[in-house]
Amino acid sequence: MTEKSGKTFELTDKDAGRSAQLPLRKGTLGSAALDIAGLNKDLGVFTYDPGFGATAATESRITYIDGDAGVLLYRGYPIEQLAEKSSFMEVAYLLLIGELPTAKQLEEFTGNIRYHTMINESLLRFFNYFHHNAHPMAMVSGVVASMAAFYHDTMDIHNPRHREIFAHRIIAKIPTIAAAAHKHSLGQPFVYPRNDLDYAANVLSMLFAVPCEAYKVDPIAARALDLLFVLHADHEQNASTSTVRLAGSTGANPYAAISAGVSALWGPAHGGANEAVLSMLEQIGTVDNIPKYLAMAKDKSSHFRLMGFGHRVYKNFDPRAKIIREMCHKVLAQLGRSDNPLLELAQRLEEVALKDPYFVERKLYPNVDFYSGVIYSAIGIPRSMFTVMFAIARTVGWVAHWQEMIADPSMRIGRPRQLYTGPVQREYVDIKKRG
Ligand code: CMC
Repeated sequence: MTEKSGKTFELTDKDAGRSAQLPLRKGTLGSAALDIAGLNKDLGVFTYDPGFGATAATESRITYIDGDAGVLLYRGYPIEQLAEKSSFMEVAYLLLIGELPTAKQLEEFTGNIRYHTMINESLLRFFNYFHHNAHPMAMVSGVVASMAAFYHDTMDIHNPRHREIFAHRIIAKIPTIAAAAHKHSLGQPFVYPRNDLDYAANVLSMLFAVPCEAYKVDPIAARALDLLFVLHADHEQNASTSTVRLAGSTGANPYAAISAGVSALWGPAHGGANEAVLSMLEQIGTVDNIPKYLAMAKDKSSHFRLMGFGHRVYKNFDPRAKIIREMCHKVLAQLGRSDNPLLELAQRLEEVALKDPYFVERKLYPNVDFYSGVIYSAIGIPRSMFTVMFAIARTVGWVAHWQEMIADPSMRIGRPRQLYTGPVQREYVDIKKRG
């Protein structure tokens, strides 16, 4: 637990003649937090903060975001440096363990992940019973939850070794599950993992290989995917991570908690935005239609939002979006697809929106999802699988947060309070007397 800073805020209810002392807690970076844990006991009131705009639900040592400065740090390391120099497996180790690995530690960690890539054959057969046009996120969420029924023998959440095995298993198996969902959608045979390949290359092989032909992984596509995984690996207390924490705080089986995270990620306001951006760009179609769609995005009655724009925390720019935009040009040039109409449209839309007073006043900038779909498409990943790719990467963050929470001796069940606005107490009315 963080130390109290010594500074205290006093909140007084003059009518009741009572006051509460609210100590200020300071982290290592960013805003301090007012500790309101004793507020209800001292003043008999709760705080009200729908959407958690100003509420820190936990302490965490994993990821730091400065939304005004556009800073994102994993365990203190800037995302720009990790994107340039690191790899997804190294970042996974960093997020889980807290330090960059030595060469030997990385080799051992990668070996542990490789060891667990296959899934139980019975689990694989589950896919045959999903409808052929089921969304892959629905299948992934369902099958990840089902893992709780297969790997419960080695799952005592209070045993650190069991937690470690769980971490290796879920990080190793989520690509196998994701690829099986894709193959089921296509009606193609499942492709088993190849442990001679690195993490991202293995994902591509399981997605695109077929048993009747030799498949050669394109190193440009594998490097691009690995980089996208690095950028998506964690983002502190976002909706899906908070969901994993809340579900996990009950002592639930961690596979079930991760499945809850997959479901929360699916929504278009969160990870589902990458799929929604591509649909939106196709709907807009040409540069000439941009003004019409911008007007719709500003019209509150239309329910249309500019997908891939805006963020709860970033109010200047999303550093991941900056990296992905540059990456788009490089990857498309390397793949020989520089004249990409979707990228041109996205860039033009960004240009126009960033000059529009509506977006300027509300500090709405492109987020991580605005350009990622252009790269996924360029490397052949179908739109329905975009959010699944995000889920593969974010599994590492979910596991890191779950581990941090379970290992914390002060952990309590997550249990928000409410401001009740329903009917006051009333007497039951017999059905014959209603109406
Ligand atoms: N298009 C049009 N207006 C917007 C948009 C948008 N994309 N985003 C926010 N606004 C407006 C919103 O209507 C509100 O206007 P007003 O003050 O007049 O009522 C104002 O900006 C503040 O928006 P908010 O909904 O209160 O902001 P929030 O922090 O609750 O929501 C958000 C953040 C990301 C859900 C939202 O910006 C959004 O829906 N964006 C589009 C979906 C998207 O791209 N999501 C991916 C987020 S990044 C990756 C991830 O988290 O997984």
